[in-house]
Parts: sequence; C-alpha cells; structure tokens
Amino acid sequence: MRLKDKVAIVTGGGIGIGRAYAMGLAKEGARVVVADIQDQEAEEVAAEIRRLDGDALAVHVDVTSPGKTRAMAEAAVKRYGRIDILVNNAALYSAIKKKPFAEITGEEWDNVMAVNLKGLFFCVQAVYPAMKNQGKGKIINISSGTALGGTPFFLHYVTSKAGVIGLTRALARELGPDRICVNAITPGLTISSPEQEATLTREQLSDRRGRRALQRDQYPQDLVGTVIFLSSDDSDFMTGQTINVDGGTHMY
Ligand SMILES: NC(=O)c1ccc[n+]([C@@H]2O[C@H](COP(=O)([O-])OP(=O)(O)OC[C@H]3O[C@@H](n4cnc5c(N)ncnc54)[C@H](O)[C@@H]3O)[C@@H](O)[C@H]2O)c1
Repeated sequence: MRLKDKVAIVTGGGIGIGRAYAMGLAKEGARVVVADIQDQEAEEVAAEIRRLDGDALAVHVDVTSPGKTRAMAEAAVKRYGRIDILVNNAALYSAIKKKPFAEITGEEWDNVMAVNLKGLFFCVQAVYPAMKNQGKGKIINISSGTALGGTPFFLHYVTSKAGVIGLTRALARELGPDRICVNAITPGLTISSPEQEATLTREQLSDRRGRRALQRDQYPQDLVGTVIFLSSDDSDFMTGQTINVDGGTHMY
C-alpha cells in the first residue's frame, strides 16, 4: 500500500472519474474525504470504501464558496488530523453542452470559470495551512486534453482547463519552498458514466479510438494509477508538471 495513513480529499468524488480516484486512493491505504456538491453520491462512495475495510468521510462542498471549501478542509483535519493530498477534480463537464462560442452567454462563461478554475483556487487556499504546517503536500489538478487539442464548441470549458495548467505551474513555484508538489493531469475523452456515454455517438467514440496510439476507449481506471503516483512519495521531486493520459492521442 503506497498511501498508508495518508489523508486525501477528492473533490467531485461522488460520481464519474472522481469516484474512481476516491476508490483507488482508498485501495492504496489512504483515508479519503469524498467531497461533493451531490451529498448522496458522496455518502455512497464513502460507504463503499468503508464496506471494503477502508476509511472514508463524505463531506458536502460547493467549490465556488470559500466558506464551504474551508469547512471541507476543517472537516478533514477534525476527523483525521491532517491533509496530505488534494485531488482537485470537481468541475462542470457532463453538466454543460457543447455550443458555438457566439452562443455562450456571459453567465454560462462565469459559471464554468467559477467551478473549474476559481473552485480549484479556493480548495488549494483551504488545504494550504494544513499542508504548510506538515511541511509536505500533494496537489493534483485535473485539467483536460481539450486544452491541448483545442476542442471546438466548448470554449468556456477548454479555456478553464487551459487555466488549470497555468494555475498549476505558478502554484508549484510558489509552494515549492513549503515542499508542496502541484501537478496537473490532462485526461483524454473518458467514458465516466453510462449517462455521459449516452451523450457520445458511436462515430465520436470510433474517431477518438482512431486518434489514439492505444486504440481503445478510455475509462476512469486508466487515470487512477497516475493520481496514485502523483499522490505518493515516488513523485516527491516532480512539481509544476502536466501529465497527459490519453492513450497517446497527443504527444508533447
Ligand atoms: N470525462 C472526460 O472525458 C474528461 C476528460 C478530461 C477531463 N475530465 C475532467 O475530469 C474530471 C471528472 O470528470 P467527470 O467526467 O467525472 O465529470 P462529471 O461532470 O461527471 O463530474 C464532475 C463532478 O464534480 C462535481 N461538482 C460539480 N460542481 C461542483 C461544485 N460546485 N462543487 C463541488 N463539486 C462539484 C459533480 O457533482 C461531480 O461529482 C473533471 O474535472 C473533468 O473536467 C473529464
């Protein structure tokens, strides 16, 4: 077990890829705070981890609220005494529809930025005091391959995920003296739930497979190993990096 007794917060851990991160971290021995705006889903994931003899706590959070992100970090420290890992995964993704940029309203743009970019910033602010006191921490920001490929008709989302890469780099420099590592992951199109799969046509999935060196569909489990690595001591000298996990669609 590579994360024995470490304490990890996974935002958006109640469904989809975040759920896979929460389960994967718990399997490696981490005590997991499953933080989500969807309370029942977060409770179910925490219960599933406990059923498998792990340790988990479900916490309500809206990452757009600095008060709620602070409360999330306080709940983690109250229960487990420390915070070692933050997986900044919560985002508006499945909930938004692709559309031409000219049809995106200012309100839609602001909502996406509030969750996908400002939300990560508030979560880092919330966990920072604990990580600084401990003299070590791991922050993993979930960006997206759309920021590498410039996916069209998704301008607010793609822009927010490109922002995550800049946020990761600047924070890595700022938090390096505190021995806090800040890295990002850019997942390729991932089949994260039956509902999300239903929004993708056979042609879209076949087109994605064709663009990969490893020509198959991508699933949440394909991303879990990278999150565990970035959470573990094995990556202690890596920071400010963006790791691309997409079966070899983009090669930089
Ligand atoms: N699925 C993909 O193809 C794909 C590809 C690249 C990157 N990503 C990224 O991976 C992450 C997970 O993707 P997914 O497919 O599971 O997304 P999803 O949309 O299915 O789930 C997002 C999660 O974030 C939570 N959330 C949304 N708003 C919140 C808020 N204000 N406060 C707290 N939690 C909130 C949701 O409740 C949910 O648990 C996201 O950051 C997404 O942008 C996904």
